[in-house]
Amino acid sequence: MDLHILDHRLRVISISKSGLVNFTHPLIKLIFLRNRTRCKFFSLTETPENYTVVLDEEGFKELQPSEHLQVENSIWLPLNVVSNGNASSSSQAVGVTKIAKSVIAPLAQQHVSVFMLSTYQTDFILVREKDLSVVISSLEEEFNIYREVGGESVPVLCQDVSSCLQKNGKEAIQPTVHPVLIPQNQFCVMSLDPDTLPSIATTLIDVLFYSSSPKEDAQSSPGQDLDCIKFFSFSLIDGYISLVMDTEAQRQFPADLLFTSSSGELWRMVRIGGHPLGFDECGIVAQISQPLAESDISAYYISTFSFDHALVPEEDIVSVTDMLQHQRKEPAT
Ligand code: ARG
Repeated sequence: MDLHILDHRLRVISISKSGLVNFTHPLIKLIFLRNRTRCKFFSLTETPENYTVVLDEEGFKELQPSEHLQVENSIWLPLNVVSNGNASSSSQAVGVTKIAKSVIAPLAQQHVSVFMLSTYQTDFILVREKDLSVVISSLEEEFNIYREVGGESVPVLCQDVSSCLQKNGKEAIQPTVHPVLIPQNQFCVMSLDPDTLPSIATTLIDVLFYSSSPKEDAQSSPGQDLDCIKFFSFSLIDGYISLVMDTEAQRQFPADLLFTSSSGELWRMVRIGGHPLGFDECGIVAQISQPLAESDISAYYISTFSFDHALVPEEDIVSVTDMLQHQRKEPAT
């Protein structure tokens, strides 16, 4: 299998709920006016806490510094696994489940913090630029690694492995088991031909910028027993659009333009984290994706500025809940 280090240098940002009005102008440009920006990697996710924006340096230039903007200090690089045709794996599962053993687990073992962004098309594993040599040495046994430079894939040469890998013998740090929240909404993961983006523009503007009524705002503070959670994600990455929304938001869009894989599967969410997770802790994605991989349950995984979110097929939510409860009683593995 091949692993590509994509040619995007990314920033992870949060915009406060009340500060969004200050950014509608640049966000509209980034979402709808592709020809006016050089941004190639853009993702915007609304959660009850804030808006998370992940975007490349070209896109970042569009956002003016402000008290409403929180910028994570690091540059993040997206990794992407490309299975080159040989369907050697027996697994039918999609998403982060496919890469749990080969990518997520080894990185966690080497204490590399990741930031996940699953889309309709693929799963991006973001790693800090400064961790790149550890990332390469941890994964070069399993993958042919390529670095994309100006549209070309350049093979990454073998590293001096011994220098940066953690000694095998080091006792594994007991990972923190974070509380999870399982809201009631059903989600769908969809895509759209970029050429038809103008046809859903007004709906998208409505959902993104005008969705929360003042009443909702007042009770959106995290920690309350939310039955349903506000979660909407739009991404436009290398010309591909991906949308994650609940069925209520979906009803607002014209039915014929958005498409989803197979017969419109629905997903349930597991939100990971009781208080904001920060960016330095590692092993959170591993903790969730490992058991899913063992049970061969597909999952999308979306990290946001404050929390992580796994989406699992709705028919599996009961077994996933059981699994997580079990993990909480015996957090040994
Ligand atoms: N860094 C975590 C890990 O390596 C995942 C991201 C959690 N943080 C966040 N802000 N969503 O598993």
